[in-house]
Amino acid sequence: MKDVAKEDKPRLGKLLNDVRSAVTTALDERKAALQANADEAAFAGIDVTLPGTAHPIGTLHPITQLLDRTVAIFRRMGFALADGPDIETEWHCFDALNTPADHPARNEQDTFYLADGRLLRTHTSTVQIRTMEKTAPPIRIIAPGAAYRRDEIDATHLAQFTQMEGLYVDQGVSVADLKGTLEFFFRELFGPDAQFRFRPHFFPFTEPSYEVDIKASALGGKWLEIAGCGMVDPAVFEQVNTRRGDTAFDPEKWTGFAFGFGLDRLAMILTSTPDIRYFTDNDQRYLAQF
Ligand code: PHE
Repeated sequence: MKDVAKEDKPRLGKLLNDVRSAVTTALDERKAALQANADEAAFAGIDVTLPGTAHPIGTLHPITQLLDRTVAIFRRMGFALADGPDIETEWHCFDALNTPADHPARNEQDTFYLADGRLLRTHTSTVQIRTMEKTAPPIRIIAPGAAYRRDEIDATHLAQFTQMEGLYVDQGVSVADLKGTLEFFFRELFGPDAQFRFRPHFFPFTEPSYEVDIKASALGGKWLEIAGCGMVDPAVFEQVNTRRGDTAFDPEKWTGFAFGFGLDRLAMILTSTPDIRYFTDNDQRYLAQF
């Protein structure tokens, strides 16, 4: 500009301004066009008005929820969780539990046997035996888990169900402890209005044995047979001692109680589920309600 004649300066200045704004405008336009193209390419083939892909948070299965509550209550009473295999030896499932070879539960029509003679456990009482094999008394455990029976499948039966068993071995354990423990547990679960009936029964591994009936408004206000229980038969302690090769479970010194119940039927009542198969059909429309 300093070499330009004074009278030409205004004209030249204006011309340069015009050139600069023309170039700037053209650049902006081109940038906007390129961006629009990029946006269009990014959305090509996508209908942004369609609903997105939802990632719903799942819910715990009704039986799992009941199991968790059950475990929490027994934990407060000092019971520890114990575990064992679903595939068991006949000894752990029957012999150790004082269940002789001719007992109907051992029938091939009632139990799933493997070719090698092992079987799918028919109850989680096997875990009581496994626990006594490796620990010395006192023992206070619960053993939840799958159990298997060769049942005809219908609205109230599956070939697999979920069982919760407990074992308490200590000095001076009595039927009063058994009743107190179960009544406390079921009142925590079903409310303080629960009533109980302990009916004499027979289990090979407990003596005396009882079946427990419960009546509670949470369970529809009708008497329901809910659990089996009893005082551990000294013959079970003797079996365990023989296997261990010691006298850790001297029946003159130790007594204990055991109990067992199924969670499936309780979960059915609590969720008003009319058919047990709804629990295993894996239909989200059903299970997500709980
Ligand atoms: N194991 C028994 C059953 O499966 C239940 C039970 C457990 C009974 C412990 C008494 C004591 O039917």
